[in-house]
Amino acid sequence: MNTPSNQLVLVLDFGGQYKELIARRVRECRVASELKPGRTPLDEIKKLAPIGIILTGGPDSVYKEGAPLADLALFELGIPILGICYGMHLMAHTLGGQVSPCPVSEYGRITTEIDESSPIFAGLDGSQICLMSHTDQVSRLPEGFKASAHTDNCAIAAMENRARRLYATQFHPEVENTPNGTDIIRNFLYNVCGAAGDYDIGGYRARMLSEIRERVGDRRVLLGLSGGVDSSVCAALLAEAVPGRLHCIFVDHGLMRQNEGDEVEAAFRGRELHFIRVDAEERFLKKLKGVRDPERKRKIIGEEFVRVFEDEAKKLGDVDFLAQGTIYPDVVESGANGSAVIKSHHNVGGLPDDIAFRGIIEPLRGLFKDEVRELGRELGLPRALTERQPFPGPGLAVRIIGAVTKKKLETLRAADAVFREEISRLRVKPDMYFAVLTDTRSVGVMGDFRTYGYTVALRAVKTTDFMTCEYVPLPHKLLGRVSGRIINEAAGVSRVVYDVTGKPPATIEWE
Ligand code: XMP
Repeated sequence: MNTPSNQLVLVLDFGGQYKELIARRVRECRVASELKPGRTPLDEIKKLAPIGIILTGGPDSVYKEGAPLADLALFELGIPILGICYGMHLMAHTLGGQVSPCPVSEYGRITTEIDESSPIFAGLDGSQICLMSHTDQVSRLPEGFKASAHTDNCAIAAMENRARRLYATQFHPEVENTPNGTDIIRNFLYNVCGAAGDYDIGGYRARMLSEIRERVGDRRVLLGLSGGVDSSVCAALLAEAVPGRLHCIFVDHGLMRQNEGDEVEAAFRGRELHFIRVDAEERFLKKLKGVRDPERKRKIIGEEFVRVFEDEAKKLGDVDFLAQGTIYPDVVESGANGSAVIKSHHNVGGLPDDIAFRGIIEPLRGLFKDEVRELGRELGLPRALTERQPFPGPGLAVRIIGAVTKKKLETLRAADAVFREEISRLRVKPDMYFAVLTDTRSVGVMGDFRTYGYTVALRAVKTTDFMTCEYVPLPHKLLGRVSGRIINEAAGVSRVVYDVTGKPPATIEWE
């Protein structure tokens, strides 16, 4: 049964870039996981009573000043621990072993010889491909430990103390570049921690419901609802957690696709929430008038969105919590790992400080997109909503090249609706597909008359992470049909072209 008391594995974060992936792999193995800071006090850890702890990798050198360290008592709790990369160094350093710089650093997929008798390597062949990425390594084992894997350049690529149920790997079992890595994590969970496999997305739902209820009590929550998968799932979860005390503000900026505003409203009818739809089309179009630069469009829309939101929040009066549908990839793409910002998307922390809230609630922050969709289905949201492809916050404004006008919006809406309708008949659909209204006009002929209309570009891409993509070679017959229908059904279009560029070098959206 899924209750908030599912067995839990705690992932202690020492700054590694794959930390969420570790938590996700644990969930894939049907065990609940939670990511907490590396410095989480022991009392808190004991209170959570995890069946196992995983120490993540991290950028530091354990022997340098200022590196995050672990408490010796952590390893004396009797809870099984798996240290990964920096987590391994931490284990060795704390327990009296030695960590030193590698004579030869290892990066990439490295052949690793493992001790097949180790409980964490059960069922695996003796030679494995593992992702290594390190400049330090364990050079002397702590007392009671033995090496359980090695590579050509790393004598201690894994270590263990079976009696104390302490295990560690220099390589990263959580990434796809370690093809059997999930088996290693599963072995740790089931062979070492005694996992029962009692977690599924229903368990996550139950846990979140109880956490939100405890935090919110009888106070009120405000959520900005865009109608996208993430904020919709967030709304459904909160409506169940605090029925009647959730206010959702849906800002219809007039840059939505055909019928979209009504569809979003309909999906939330009948749920225990206060749905406020703000028709702000005029406000947005006024601010966007004559603006051609994509980044300025984004900035204007982002800012105006906040202003509308503020106006509505003020009308509501005392609201204690602000909820956001932030998911894990948002946190990464917004430069959280020092990565470059290509487009100013994503509203991570993007709301003004001067709306006074007691706290922010982000119940999806640790989840990946497919997990969010699964949770949405579990909460009974219609598939049309949970399976929605991402739609950019600035909406059709970044799919109209150049200045945005009401007329152009109408044209694009009609063209996009045709394309989406035709694609909806395909058995296998591209991951993202949409129409763009370019700023290029060209000469055409309709009946006996010359036309001089806009060019519509169609885009359909295959992607899993939306950070890279390939174009989809749609059948010419389909493209021909779409082209014919668009010319007939979208006023002012005289030519249709198909975009055959990947990302990189292009991006998915045209602006
Ligand atoms: P790009 O165009 O950057 O798109 O290759 C990658 C994914 O991000 C979406 N996207 C945005 N989402 N605000 C958003 O909320 C934005 O300004 C924005 N720009 C792009 C895009 O639709 C795709 O899914």
